[in-house]
Amino acid sequence: MTLNGPMKTLISSDQIQQRIAEMGHDISQDYRDRNPVLVGVLRGSFVFLADLIRAITIPLEVDFISVESYGSQKNSSGVVRLLQDLNTNIKGRDVILVEDIVDSGITLSYLIDNLKTRGPASLVICALLDKKERRQKEPGILKYVGFTIPDKFVIGYGLDHAQQYRNLPYVSWVEEE
Ligand code: IMP
Ligand code: MG
Repeated sequence: MTLNGPMKTLISSDQIQQRIAEMGHDISQDYRDRNPVLVGVLRGSFVFLADLIRAITIPLEVDFISVESYGSQKNSSGVVRLLQDLNTNIKGRDVILVEDIVDSGITLSYLIDNLKTRGPASLVICALLDKKERRQKEPGILKYVGFTIPDKFVIGYGLDHAQQYRNLPYVSWVEEE
């Protein structure tokens, strides 16, 4: 893949915001009176998380966790390492793990296994994008999904290629040459 190719918009800013409004509405209903902890997986999820919490109308808390998955720029190797842990004690809490994209599922499977050992009252995943075709490991309850997308490497709205393009307000992909 080269980034010299033309960029195609896959999901516009308006489409993203419209879908997030729906997801925020669903979460607000499902978690009423539960004060959930939304855990953003750094770095890719921070843009999505920032918009998502403003679409949620119930009390909530926010925390972050950072992981690194070894491998090439575009493929997980299957080895995941925790870079930065939560500050929140999630024992007995309702946790929503917020991810930019589920690809092989390896990163989220690792995170789910790790967070489960801490005894949360409940634990689900909320992902903006799901690249279903690429799944190697099902990371448990994928409760909220923004968009299912084809097997293309996408950038923008928090997602990077070599740390660039996170600031694009839409999701796009690059035509391979
Ligand atoms: P997984 O472990 O293969 O599911 O990989 C998940 C992580 O890989 C995501 O959190 C992203 O950071 C990254 N990733 C996977 N696919 C893409 C993509 O198309 N664009 C940018 N990052 C991606
Ligand atoms: Mg990520």
